[in-house]
Amino acid sequence: MYNLARALLFKLSPETSHELSIDLIGAGGRLGINGLLNKAPASCPVRVMGLDFANPVGLAAGLDKNGDAIDGFAQLGFGFIEIGTVTPRPQPGNSKPRLFRLEHAEALVNRMGFNNLGVDHLLSRVQAAKFKGVLGINIGKNFDTPVERAVDDYLLCLDKVYAHASYVTVNISSPNTPGLRSLQFGDSLKQLLEALRQRQEDLAQQHGKRVPLAIKIAPDMTDEETVQVARALLEAGMDGVIASNTTLSREGVEGQPFAEQAGGLSGAPLRDKSTHIVKVLAAELAGRLPIIAVGGITEGHHAAEKIAAGASLVQLYSGFIYKGPQLIRDAVAAIAALPRA
Ligand code: FNR
Repeated sequence: MYNLARALLFKLSPETSHELSIDLIGAGGRLGINGLLNKAPASCPVRVMGLDFANPVGLAAGLDKNGDAIDGFAQLGFGFIEIGTVTPRPQPGNSKPRLFRLEHAEALVNRMGFNNLGVDHLLSRVQAAKFKGVLGINIGKNFDTPVERAVDDYLLCLDKVYAHASYVTVNISSPNTPGLRSLQFGDSLKQLLEALRQRQEDLAQQHGKRVPLAIKIAPDMTDEETVQVARALLEAGMDGVIASNTTLSREGVEGQPFAEQAGGLSGAPLRDKSTHIVKVLAAELAGRLPIIAVGGITEGHHAAEKIAAGASLVQLYSGFIYKGPQLIRDAVAAIAALPRA
């Protein structure tokens, strides 16, 4: 059935089809009928970061940036939902077109630039949702906040979303916000992590609950840089790491239509690069910090590969666009079939 829907959706521009899909999934969620579209995944509960996940396959950030379709996505069978990236103030993002399909490669290139309606709107959507499972809220900085003041934006968003999130993701790896990725290195990273950790403690006292913090990183780092990030996360007492965001590399899609568009590449060509980062992180972290793997999962067994590489959870984005909700079930089944560690 998704093949038919996809054939129709792919006739529209990628962004129109994206908006329509969110509207339909959101409407289905409000009517409570999305469960009919997809047979429920196998039961596969997991506990990670002190949270109970219905299954280890989640929705990656960026698909439901404003939290408009939380119930709809949950009813499709995702074990957890990550909404955002949200910024303190609404912003339009980059000019269109800014999302491109590389169909033969099962890939996307995007330079959306954190288009979103701002944190207050997102919170109103979260409050309207009925979903009781694990909800991650992914936070970022406004494009016109200087990168030296980025910490202010992250803290502002953290303050606002803390009481409403199961976990909070700090996105320092979008390639479409100038300077953002510099926060992944050296003193900038340490200062940001320290500020977040301190605020997390204050908020935990204030709200009487500890909300885990996960940091989302880019795949375009050397192994040595990835190890440095892992050490900094451990030192700062973070709760999880999400690997990875989209890549600036065009390896594997050279010469294909839209391959030369500026932005981050996601989907199948990102898979091995992103799994490699998971392996490097896993070797350094040795189980001390959970890894959430995302990047290039387009078949169920790719999700199992990420778990075998050392991840505790996975997320889907491009694969969900190309394969539809059945991919959730396939991914859960493939993970459930793995021999237990
Ligand atoms: C993204 N991604 C993303 N990530 C994030 O942390 N915040 C965001 O706002 C977005 N926005 C976004 C928009 C679009 C159009 C795409 C394709 C991707 C990155 C996404 O969550 C994921 O990390 C990558 O796409 C890699 O996973 P897939 O797509 O290969 O499964």
